Amino acid sequence: RPVDLTQLIIDRIRDVPDYPKPGVTFKDITPLLADHAAFAAVIDAIVAHYGRGTIDKVAGVEARGFILAAPVAYHFGAGFVPVRKKGKLPSSTYAESYDLEYGSETIEVHQDAFTPGERVLIVDDVLATGGTARATAELVRRTGAQVAGLSVLMELGFLNGREKLADLDLHAMVTV
Ligand code: PRP
Repeated sequence: RPVDLTQLIIDRIRDVPDYPKPGVTFKDITPLLADHAAFAAVIDAIVAHYGRGTIDKVAGVEARGFILAAPVAYHFGAGFVPVRKKGKLPSSTYAESYDLEYGSETIEVHQDAFTPGERVLIVDDVLATGGTARATAELVRRTGAQVAGLSVLMELGFLNGREKLADLDLHAMVTV
C-alpha cells in the first residue's frame, strides 16, 4: 500500500502546548527526524516537487531549516547556504528584521552566498506568520539571486502566512 505522506508527516509532528510561551503551541519535528523512512520520504518529496536541475542553491533557515535544507541540497546536487540569526555569520552580511509569532528577530545571509541569477530554493520546517520566509526571500533577492520556491513541512493556515508570500511558489507538504 502506498504510504500517505501527509499522514506520515502529521503523525510525526508533535504539538507541545505553551512552548516557548503560554498560549503558543510548538510544532516539534524531532519525532519525524528520528524516523528514517519518514525523514527520507519528506526529503525525496521536496526534491521531486521541484525536479532535479531546477535549483542551484538551497537556503536553510536557522535552526530547524538547516536539518531539512542540507539533505535537499545534496540530492539536488546544489549548494547549501545558511540563513542565520543576527551575529552568527562571520563575514559581510545582509540583514532583515521581522516580527515573529512570538517576539521579533533579525536574520542574515552572507553577501557573497549567491551569485546573481542563481535559482534558490528556501527550505524551512514550519510556515507560521510568514515573517521569516518573507525576510529570507528578501535576503536572497538582495544578493541578485532569484527565489525559485519555498518548501515547508507544515503550514499553519490560520496564521495566514501565505498572504505575505503571494509572489512565491510555496510548497507546503501539510497545511493545518
Ligand atoms: C520557527 C520556524 C520558522 C519560523 C516560522 O523558527 O522554524 O523558521 O519560526 O515562523 P514565522 O512564519 O512566523 O516567521 P524559530 O524562530 O523558532 O527558530 P529556531 O528554528 O532556531 O528555533
